[in-house]
Amino acid sequence: MKKDNQALKAELRSLLKERDAIMLAHNYQRDEVQEAADITGDSLALSQAAADSPVKVIVFCGVHFMAESAAILSPQKTVILPRMDAGCPMADMITAEDLIREKAKRPGVPVVAYVNTSAAVKALSDICCTSANAVAVVNSLSTEAVYMIPDRNLSHFVSRTAKKKMEWWNGYCPTHERLKPEDIKAAKQAHPDAVFVCHPECNPAVVDMADHVCSTSGMYTFAKKTPAKTLIVGTEQGILYKLRKENPGKTFIIPSKALICPNMKLTTLEDVVISLREMRNVVTVSADVRERAKAALDAMLKVPRDY
Ligand code: 13P
Ligand code: SF4
Repeated sequence: MKKDNQALKAELRSLLKERDAIMLAHNYQRDEVQEAADITGDSLALSQAAADSPVKVIVFCGVHFMAESAAILSPQKTVILPRMDAGCPMADMITAEDLIREKAKRPGVPVVAYVNTSAAVKALSDICCTSANAVAVVNSLSTEAVYMIPDRNLSHFVSRTAKKKMEWWNGYCPTHERLKPEDIKAAKQAHPDAVFVCHPECNPAVVDMADHVCSTSGMYTFAKKTPAKTLIVGTEQGILYKLRKENPGKTFIIPSKALICPNMKLTTLEDVVISLREMRNVVTVSADVRERAKAALDAMLKVPRDY
């Protein structure tokens, strides 16, 4: 028999205590998963929380590369991904073999890997970045040239401000790529006083129309600070849960019905409870890959976030 939400939440709390576990949830997760989590945040905040938390077990409600990053940063902890099928299509767009080929064409040029990559790809990279620190990471490098993977849109955004000669891989996030300039035009017409904030994974034509471009956590800060009462938000619709909770007097508009990441929506509370009850879906990374990938993640964690 299926348990109701209250009973599931009660079992979840007692399992978290029993296992000495912490539940992390990305800002795109289902509302009920975000509500139940100990910590919600963007990719950077969750990586830091995973590294800093003294617990034995991390239940990571997000997608595979996020849990893998937690496993890389905290090898002594058990990291659980409640849904093993929650992947990131953008991370799958570049393989280790692809990167070996690209590096051979650019000797001496450092590789900046967006965290949305596999451990094997991170292991071949010099430093990682997230959307919250990408410009700072690129500017922290001493070379004039930089190669960025896998997101062409984030790379293009960084190249607008970073003082570097940049080249990048041609990957993209299928969810953010679905947002079109026409959607923003229509939303602005319907809400002429609204400001438009968007994620740097959006296409440059959409970024061009934004009043502010930032990571998901940057959007929470911006929403509180801006005097605007209506915000058009160009990112995955899971962001609405906390935006609405933290800003009851403001209106948030998601300008396209296509802004749903199917992978981020897979995890249910029931999945979290079952994985923790049975201690299944443990994410591991082999020692040699882990060591090299950790160096790239550690290098990133030393750079302060942009916003
Ligand atoms: P951030 O939460 O780091 O902004 O990342 C967005 C994203 O697409 C994660 O998959
Ligand atoms: Fe990957 Fe895009 Fe989904 Fe983020 S929103 S997990 S980048 S597919």
